[in-house]
Amino acid sequence: MNAENILQQAETFVKTSLEGAESGHDWWHIARVYQTAMQMADEMHADKLIVGLAALLHDIGDSKFNGGDELAGPKAIRSFLQTLQIEASTLEKVLFIIENMSFRHSFHFEGQKSLEFCIVQDADRLDAMGAIGIARAFSYGGYKGRPFYDPAIPPHIPGDKETYQKSTAPTINHFYEKLLLLKDQMNTEAGKKRAQQRHAYMLNFLEQFYQELKG
Ligand code: ADP
Ligand code: NI
Repeated sequence: MNAENILQQAETFVKTSLEGAESGHDWWHIARVYQTAMQMADEMHADKLIVGLAALLHDIGDSKFNGGDELAGPKAIRSFLQTLQIEASTLEKVLFIIENMSFRHSFHFEGQKSLEFCIVQDADRLDAMGAIGIARAFSYGGYKGRPFYDPAIPPHIPGDKETYQKSTAPTINHFYEKLLLLKDQMNTEAGKKRAQQRHAYMLNFLEQFYQELKG
């Protein structure tokens, strides 16, 4: 089976698994990350099967939606990958990327990042920035029933994974706790280039937001 067929199977699996997902984490998030990651893989001559599979499968069984079970996702992904005709080393590389690339894990990740890892992580982070990033943040906040603004709760930059995960702060704080930090966390030049414009757009948004608060 060629890479294209394998990626097609993964796409079908992901679409089914994410049916009814919250809109910040739905199939369209995956489709955007996949598209960006494959473009970057082209530019950087990376292994497109590994990039494609990791991008497609990266949000399956996110522990946030599994009552905090960190093992449910990797288990489901491994079972699925085992049904594909891919080499064992490809399977392990894809799983490693998925298990270690999230923002939560980045607080204490000390391993070695492959080029494919760098690309998929950048593509996922880019989708949390810019106009789409803004839309996703407010969508997620609404899904969690949070206020989007409360001057009594100032933003605070989390130093560890527990504080970040426990945060119930208003959505506007999320810009300071995560979104504005992303541009300096890009792994690749291609990612940095794409991040600049999205970062500037978020700053404009915040400026306008505070201007409107003043009336
Ligand atoms: P990852 O799983 O990639 O580590 P998340 O799942 O936390 O990151 O982020 C997915 C999307 O949900 C992003 O667009 C992110 O900005 C948004 N999001 C996560 N936490 C919050 C929050 N507390 N408030 C608003 N949006 C959030
Ligand atoms: Ni994602």
